[in-house]
Amino acid sequence: MIVLGIETSCDETSAAVVRAPGEVLSNVVFTQQEMHGPFGGVVPEIASRSHLEKLPDVVEQAREESGLSWGEIDAIAVTYGPGLASSLLIGMSGAKGLAMRLGIPLIPVNHLHGHIFSALLSPGCPSIQEACPFIAHVVSGGHTSLVEVKDPQTVRLLGQTIDDAAGEAFDKGASLLGLGYPGGPLMDRLAKEGNASAVKFPRTQLSADSLKHYPHLDPELSFSYSGLKTSLMYYVKKHPESRDDDVQRQDVVASYQEAIVDALVSRCVRAMDGQTTLAMGGGVSLNSRLRARLQGEAAARGWQLLLTEPRFCADNAAMIAFVAAQGLAGVTKGVDAMKIDVMPSLSIVIGSARC
Ligand code: KG4
Ligand code: ZN
Repeated sequence: MIVLGIETSCDETSAAVVRAPGEVLSNVVFTQQEMHGPFGGVVPEIASRSHLEKLPDVVEQAREESGLSWGEIDAIAVTYGPGLASSLLIGMSGAKGLAMRLGIPLIPVNHLHGHIFSALLSPGCPSIQEACPFIAHVVSGGHTSLVEVKDPQTVRLLGQTIDDAAGEAFDKGASLLGLGYPGGPLMDRLAKEGNASAVKFPRTQLSADSLKHYPHLDPELSFSYSGLKTSLMYYVKKHPESRDDDVQRQDVVASYQEAIVDALVSRCVRAMDGQTTLAMGGGVSLNSRLRARLQGEAAARGWQLLLTEPRFCADNAAMIAFVAAQGLAGVTKGVDAMKIDVMPSLSIVIGSARC
Protein backbone atom coordinates (compact mmCIF):
# COMPACT_ATOMS: atom_id res chain seq x y z
CA MET A 1 0.00 0.00 0.00
CA ILE A 2 1.22 3.51 -0.86
CA VAL A 3 -0.03 6.31 1.43
CA LEU A 4 0.20 10.03 0.79
CA GLY A 5 0.11 11.86 4.15
CA ILE A 6 -0.82 15.47 4.87
CA GLU A 7 0.06 17.38 8.05
CA THR A 8 -1.06 20.96 8.79
CA SER A 9 -1.82 20.91 12.53
CA CYS A 10 0.31 23.91 13.48
CA ASP A 11 2.92 25.91 11.54
CA GLU A 12 4.40 23.29 9.23
CA THR A 13 2.80 22.45 5.88
CA SER A 14 3.92 18.94 5.06
CA ALA A 15 3.16 16.09 2.67
CA ALA A 16 4.88 12.72 2.38
CA VAL A 17 4.60 9.45 0.51
CA VAL A 18 5.20 6.22 2.45
CA ARG A 19 5.19 2.67 1.10
CA ALA A 20 3.84 0.21 3.71
CA PRO A 21 5.06 -0.87 6.13
CA GLY A 22 7.42 2.11 6.49
CA GLU A 23 9.53 3.15 3.52
CA VAL A 24 9.57 6.94 3.24
CA LEU A 25 9.60 7.80 -0.48
CA SER A 26 9.33 11.57 0.07
CA ASN A 27 8.76 13.99 2.95
CA VAL A 28 8.35 17.67 2.09
CA VAL A 29 8.10 20.16 4.96
CA PHE A 30 7.51 23.88 4.55
CA THR A 31 7.99 25.65 7.87
CA GLN A 32 6.35 29.00 8.61
CA GLN A 33 8.69 29.81 11.51
CA GLU A 34 9.99 33.01 9.90
CA MET A 35 6.44 34.35 9.52
CA HIS A 36 5.62 33.85 13.21
CA GLY A 37 9.02 34.95 14.54
CA PRO A 38 8.15 38.67 14.87
CA PHE A 39 5.11 37.74 17.02
CA GLY A 40 7.03 35.40 19.36
CA GLY A 41 4.61 32.52 18.73
CA VAL A 42 2.28 30.96 16.18
CA VAL A 43 -0.48 33.29 14.93
CA PRO A 44 -3.39 31.03 13.87
CA GLU A 45 -4.67 33.38 11.16
CA ILE A 46 -1.26 33.63 9.50
CA ALA A 47 -0.74 29.87 9.82
CA SER A 48 -3.97 28.87 8.10
CA ARG A 49 -3.51 31.38 5.26
CA SER A 50 -0.02 30.08 4.62
CA HIS A 51 -1.23 26.44 4.66
CA LEU A 52 -3.86 27.35 2.09
CA GLU A 53 -1.26 28.95 -0.13
CA LYS A 54 1.42 26.26 0.18
CA LEU A 55 -0.45 22.96 0.48
CA PRO A 56 -1.10 22.29 -3.24
CA ASP A 57 2.60 22.79 -4.13
CA VAL A 58 3.85 20.81 -1.14
CA VAL A 59 1.55 17.88 -2.01
CA GLU A 60 2.55 17.93 -5.66
CA GLN A 61 6.25 18.09 -4.73
CA ALA A 62 5.87 15.10 -2.36
CA ARG A 63 4.14 13.09 -5.10
CA GLU A 64 6.78 14.05 -7.64
CA GLU A 65 9.74 13.27 -5.33
CA SER A 66 8.25 9.84 -4.57
CA GLY A 67 8.67 9.00 -8.27
CA LEU A 68 5.09 7.68 -8.37
CA SER A 69 2.09 8.75 -10.42
CA TRP A 70 -1.21 9.79 -8.84
CA GLY A 71 -2.68 6.47 -9.97
CA GLU A 72 -0.21 4.60 -7.75
CA ILE A 73 -1.35 6.28 -4.50
CA ASP A 74 -3.67 3.92 -2.58
CA ALA A 75 -4.85 6.13 0.31
CA ILE A 76 -4.65 9.65 1.72
CA ALA A 77 -3.77 10.03 5.41
CA VAL A 78 -4.40 13.32 7.17
CA THR A 79 -3.92 14.76 10.65
CA TYR A 80 -7.39 15.44 12.14
CA GLY A 81 -6.20 16.64 15.58
CA PRO A 82 -5.03 17.86 17.95
CA GLY A 83 -3.91 21.25 16.68
CA LEU A 84 -5.14 24.65 15.55
CA ALA A 85 -8.67 24.31 14.17
CA SER A 86 -8.15 26.64 11.22
CA SER A 87 -4.87 24.94 10.27
CA LEU A 88 -6.27 21.41 10.59
CA LEU A 89 -9.19 22.39 8.36
CA ILE A 90 -6.93 23.29 5.44
CA GLY A 91 -5.21 19.89 5.50
CA MET A 92 -8.50 18.06 5.98
CA SER A 93 -10.19 19.87 3.08
CA GLY A 94 -7.24 19.20 0.80
CA ALA A 95 -7.13 15.54 1.83
CA LYS A 96 -10.87 15.08 1.25
CA GLY A 97 -10.60 16.68 -2.18
CA LEU A 98 -7.73 14.38 -3.17
CA ALA A 99 -9.42 11.23 -1.82
CA MET A 100 -12.63 12.10 -3.65
CA ARG A 101 -10.87 13.01 -6.91
CA LEU A 102 -8.75 9.84 -6.85
CA GLY A 103 -11.55 7.61 -5.52
CA ILE A 104 -9.35 6.24 -2.73
CA PRO A 105 -9.81 5.91 1.08
CA LEU A 106 -9.14 8.70 3.56
CA ILE A 107 -7.36 7.78 6.81
CA PRO A 108 -7.65 10.31 9.65
CA VAL A 109 -4.60 10.14 11.95
CA ASN A 110 -4.07 11.44 15.48
CA HIS A 111 -1.06 13.79 15.28
CA LEU A 112 0.25 12.53 18.62
CA HIS A 113 0.30 8.94 17.36
CA GLY A 114 2.61 10.24 14.63
CA HIS A 115 5.03 11.49 17.30
CA ILE A 116 4.62 8.30 19.41
CA PHE A 117 5.66 6.03 16.55
CA SER A 118 8.11 8.38 14.75
CA ALA A 119 11.14 6.74 16.41
CA LEU A 120 10.28 3.55 14.51
CA LEU A 121 10.25 5.23 11.13
CA SER A 122 13.91 4.94 10.12
CA PRO A 123 15.60 2.12 8.20
CA GLY A 124 17.05 -0.47 10.58
CA CYS A 125 14.60 0.31 13.42
CA PRO A 126 12.67 -2.47 15.09
CA SER A 127 9.13 -2.86 13.78
CA ILE A 128 6.33 -1.49 15.95
CA GLN A 129 5.41 -5.08 16.87
CA GLU A 130 9.01 -5.83 17.87
CA ALA A 131 9.30 -2.63 19.94
CA CYS A 132 6.08 -3.23 21.95
CA PRO A 133 5.58 -2.88 24.83
CA PHE A 134 7.40 0.43 25.15
CA ILE A 135 7.21 3.82 26.83
CA ALA A 136 6.86 6.78 24.46
CA HIS A 137 7.80 10.32 25.42
CA VAL A 138 6.17 12.97 23.22
CA VAL A 139 7.83 16.30 23.85
CA SER A 140 7.00 19.23 21.58
CA GLY A 141 5.77 22.80 21.44
CA GLY A 142 2.21 21.80 22.27
CA HIS A 143 2.59 18.53 24.18
CA THR A 144 4.63 16.89 26.90
CA SER A 145 3.32 13.39 27.57
CA LEU A 146 4.39 9.95 28.64
CA VAL A 147 2.41 6.97 27.37
CA GLU A 148 2.72 3.24 27.55
CA VAL A 149 2.27 1.51 24.18
CA LYS A 150 1.26 -1.97 25.31
CA ASP A 151 0.68 -3.19 21.78
CA PRO A 152 0.34 -1.25 18.51
CA GLN A 153 -3.38 -0.68 19.18
CA THR A 154 -3.26 0.13 22.89
CA VAL A 155 -1.93 3.45 24.11
CA ARG A 156 -2.26 4.30 27.84
CA LEU A 157 -1.63 7.82 29.11
CA LEU A 158 0.71 7.84 32.12
CA GLY A 159 1.34 11.54 32.61
CA GLN A 160 1.41 14.89 30.86
CA THR A 161 1.93 18.57 31.50
CA ILE A 162 -0.81 20.37 33.37
CA ASP A 163 0.18 23.79 32.01
CA ASP A 164 2.97 24.64 29.55
CA ALA A 165 4.59 22.07 27.27
CA ALA A 166 8.39 21.76 27.38
CA GLY A 167 8.66 23.48 23.99
CA GLU A 168 6.58 26.40 25.30
CA ALA A 169 8.89 26.62 28.31
CA PHE A 170 11.81 26.97 25.87
CA ASP A 171 9.99 29.45 23.62
CA LYS A 172 8.66 31.65 26.45
CA GLY A 173 11.99 31.51 28.30
CA ALA A 174 13.81 32.60 25.15
CA SER A 175 11.39 35.47 24.72
CA LEU A 176 12.00 36.65 28.33
CA LEU A 177 15.72 36.66 27.57
CA GLY A 178 15.27 38.62 24.35
CA LEU A 179 16.24 35.71 22.10
CA GLY A 180 14.29 34.92 18.93
CA TYR A 181 11.55 32.41 18.07
CA PRO A 182 11.44 29.42 18.23
CA GLY A 183 13.47 29.48 21.42
CA GLY A 184 14.32 25.78 21.71
CA PRO A 185 17.07 25.56 19.09
CA LEU A 186 18.53 28.95 20.14
CA MET A 187 18.66 27.94 23.81
CA ASP A 188 20.10 24.53 22.91
CA ARG A 189 23.00 26.26 21.11
CA LEU A 190 23.65 28.94 23.78
CA ALA A 191 23.45 26.43 26.65
CA LYS A 192 26.46 24.58 25.28
CA GLU A 193 28.63 27.58 26.24
CA GLY A 194 27.06 28.14 29.68
CA ASN A 195 27.32 26.78 33.22
CA ALA A 196 24.18 24.78 34.03
CA SER A 197 24.70 25.13 37.80
CA ALA A 198 25.04 28.92 37.74
CA VAL A 199 21.40 29.69 38.62
CA LYS A 200 19.19 27.52 40.84
CA PHE A 201 15.85 27.25 39.03
CA PRO A 202 13.00 25.25 40.64
CA ARG A 203 12.10 21.66 39.73
CA THR A 204 8.34 21.39 40.23
CA GLN A 205 7.17 18.12 41.73
CA LEU A 206 3.41 17.68 41.51
CA SER A 207 1.44 16.27 44.43
CA ALA A 208 -1.69 14.13 44.29
CA ASP A 209 -3.54 17.16 45.67
CA SER A 210 -2.42 19.44 42.85
CA LEU A 211 -3.69 16.84 40.38
CA LYS A 212 -7.10 16.29 41.99
CA HIS A 213 -8.79 17.56 38.83
CA TYR A 214 -6.76 15.10 36.72
CA PRO A 215 -7.47 11.73 38.43
CA HIS A 216 -6.16 9.80 35.41
CA LEU A 217 -2.66 11.31 35.70
CA ASP A 218 0.14 10.02 37.90
CA PRO A 219 1.69 13.03 39.73
CA GLU A 220 5.13 11.41 39.60
CA LEU A 221 4.87 11.17 35.80
CA SER A 222 3.31 14.57 35.11
CA PHE A 223 4.87 17.95 34.45
CA SER A 224 4.38 21.63 35.26
CA TYR A 225 6.53 24.38 33.78
CA SER A 226 4.63 27.53 34.72
CA GLY A 227 6.60 27.95 38.00
CA LEU A 228 9.91 27.66 36.17
CA LYS A 229 8.88 30.31 33.64
CA THR A 230 7.78 32.68 36.44
CA SER A 231 11.02 32.07 38.24
CA LEU A 232 12.98 33.09 35.12
CA MET A 233 10.80 36.18 34.76
CA TYR A 234 11.67 37.31 38.33
CA TYR A 235 15.32 36.44 37.79
CA VAL A 236 15.52 38.61 34.67
CA LYS A 237 13.76 41.49 36.48
CA LYS A 238 16.28 41.27 39.31
CA HIS A 239 19.27 40.76 37.00
CA PRO A 240 18.50 42.78 33.84
CA GLU A 241 22.13 42.37 32.77
CA SER A 242 21.38 38.66 32.17
CA ARG A 243 19.61 39.74 28.96
CA ASP A 244 22.54 41.74 27.64
CA ASP A 245 25.75 40.23 28.94
CA ASP A 246 26.65 37.26 26.72
CA VAL A 247 28.37 35.20 29.41
CA GLN A 248 25.61 35.73 31.99
CA ARG A 249 22.96 34.96 29.44
CA GLN A 250 24.64 31.68 28.49
CA ASP A 251 24.73 30.66 32.16
CA VAL A 252 21.05 31.51 32.67
CA VAL A 253 20.08 29.65 29.50
CA ALA A 254 22.14 26.57 30.47
CA SER A 255 20.60 26.56 33.98
CA TYR A 256 17.07 27.05 32.66
CA GLN A 257 17.49 24.32 30.05
CA GLU A 258 18.84 21.97 32.71
CA ALA A 259 15.70 22.51 34.81
CA ILE A 260 13.48 21.64 31.81
CA VAL A 261 15.56 18.60 30.93
CA ASP A 262 15.80 17.38 34.57
CA ALA A 263 12.00 17.22 34.75
CA LEU A 264 11.79 15.26 31.48
CA VAL A 265 14.57 12.81 32.34
CA SER A 266 13.40 12.12 35.91
CA ARG A 267 9.86 11.28 34.69
CA CYS A 268 11.24 9.02 31.95
CA VAL A 269 13.32 7.15 34.54
CA ARG A 270 10.21 6.61 36.72
CA ALA A 271 8.06 5.59 33.74
CA MET A 272 10.70 3.06 32.69
CA ASP A 273 10.35 1.09 35.93
CA GLY A 274 9.89 -2.51 34.75
CA GLN A 275 10.15 -1.51 31.05
CA THR A 276 12.94 -2.08 28.55
CA THR A 277 12.31 0.31 25.65
CA LEU A 278 11.90 4.08 25.56
CA ALA A 279 11.01 5.98 22.37
CA MET A 280 11.09 9.77 22.11
CA GLY A 281 9.64 12.10 19.47
CA GLY A 282 8.47 15.70 18.96
CA GLY A 283 10.35 18.94 18.26
CA VAL A 284 11.96 19.15 21.72
CA SER A 285 13.42 15.67 21.24
CA LEU A 286 15.94 17.46 18.98
CA ASN A 287 17.45 19.00 22.11
CA SER A 288 21.07 17.87 22.35
CA ARG A 289 21.23 17.97 26.16
CA LEU A 290 18.02 15.91 26.49
CA ARG A 291 19.29 13.34 23.98
CA ALA A 292 22.67 13.07 25.75
CA ARG A 293 21.09 12.75 29.22
CA LEU A 294 18.72 9.99 28.05
CA GLN A 295 21.56 8.21 26.25
CA GLY A 296 23.48 8.25 29.56
CA GLU A 297 20.49 6.82 31.47
CA ALA A 298 19.90 4.18 28.82
CA ALA A 299 23.55 3.05 28.91
CA ALA A 300 23.57 2.91 32.72
CA ARG A 301 20.21 1.15 33.04
CA GLY A 302 20.33 -1.13 30.00
CA TRP A 303 17.30 0.37 28.21
CA GLN A 304 16.80 0.20 24.48
CA LEU A 305 16.53 3.91 23.57
CA LEU A 306 14.82 4.80 20.29
CA LEU A 307 15.48 8.44 19.43
CA THR A 308 13.54 9.79 16.47
CA GLU A 309 15.76 10.69 13.54
CA PRO A 310 16.11 14.53 13.49
CA ARG A 311 14.18 14.93 10.19
CA PHE A 312 11.12 13.24 11.77
CA CYS A 313 11.23 15.04 15.18
CA ALA A 314 9.40 18.27 14.36
CA ASP A 315 6.00 18.12 12.65
CA ASN A 316 6.11 16.19 9.39
CA ALA A 317 3.73 14.19 7.22
CA ALA A 318 5.93 11.08 7.01
CA MET A 319 4.99 10.14 10.58
CA ILE A 320 1.29 10.62 9.73
CA ALA A 321 1.47 8.47 6.59
CA PHE A 322 3.48 5.90 8.59
CA VAL A 323 0.72 5.46 11.23
CA ALA A 324 -1.77 4.94 8.39
CA ALA A 325 0.53 2.58 6.45
CA GLN A 326 0.94 0.48 9.61
CA GLY A 327 -2.83 0.00 9.78
CA LEU A 328 -3.05 1.87 13.10
CA ALA A 329 -5.79 4.30 12.07
CA GLY A 330 -9.34 3.80 10.83
CA VAL A 331 -9.91 3.73 7.07
CA THR A 332 -12.89 5.66 5.68
CA LYS A 333 -14.37 5.78 2.19
CA GLY A 334 -16.89 7.69 0.10
CA VAL A 335 -19.58 9.61 1.97
CA ASP A 336 -18.18 8.54 5.38
CA ALA A 337 -14.81 10.05 4.50
CA MET A 338 -16.45 13.36 3.59
CA LYS A 339 -18.13 13.50 7.03
CA ILE A 340 -14.88 13.41 9.01
CA ASP A 341 -14.30 16.54 11.02
CA VAL A 342 -11.18 17.98 12.60
CA MET A 343 -10.79 17.62 16.39
CA PRO A 344 -8.56 20.42 17.73
CA SER A 345 -8.56 19.00 21.30
CA LEU A 346 -8.19 15.35 20.37
CA SER A 347 -6.69 13.29 23.22
CA ILE A 348 -3.53 11.26 22.84
CA VAL A 349 -5.44 8.04 23.57
CA ILE A 350 -8.11 8.59 20.93
CA GLY A 351 -7.81 7.37 17.38
CA SER A 352 -7.69 3.79 16.37
CA ALA A 353 -5.46 3.01 19.36
CA ARG A 354 -7.48 2.26 22.51
CA CYS A 355 -7.06 3.69 25.98
O1 KG4 B 1 6.95 19.04 17.26
P1 KG4 B 1 7.00 20.50 16.94
O2 KG4 B 1 7.56 20.90 15.61
O3 KG4 B 1 5.59 21.16 17.01
C1 KG4 B 1 4.57 20.77 17.87
O4 KG4 B 1 3.89 19.73 17.57
O5 KG4 B 1 4.42 21.46 18.89
O6 KG4 B 1 7.82 21.21 18.12
C2 KG4 B 1 8.14 22.56 18.11
C3 KG4 B 1 8.87 22.90 19.42
C4 KG4 B 1 9.14 24.37 19.61
O7 KG4 B 1 8.67 24.75 20.89
C5 KG4 B 1 10.66 24.48 19.54
O8 KG4 B 1 11.21 25.51 20.34
C6 KG4 B 1 11.07 23.11 20.04
O9 KG4 B 1 10.14 22.22 19.47
N1 KG4 B 1 12.44 22.74 19.64
C7 KG4 B 1 13.45 22.55 20.51
C8 KG4 B 1 14.60 22.27 19.75
N2 KG4 B 1 14.24 22.28 18.43
C9 KG4 B 1 12.91 22.58 18.39
N3 KG4 B 1 13.46 22.62 21.85
C10 KG4 B 1 14.64 22.40 22.47
N4 KG4 B 1 15.80 22.15 21.81
C11 KG4 B 1 15.83 22.07 20.47
N5 KG4 B 1 16.97 21.80 19.83
ZN1 ZN C 1 3.72 17.92 16.79
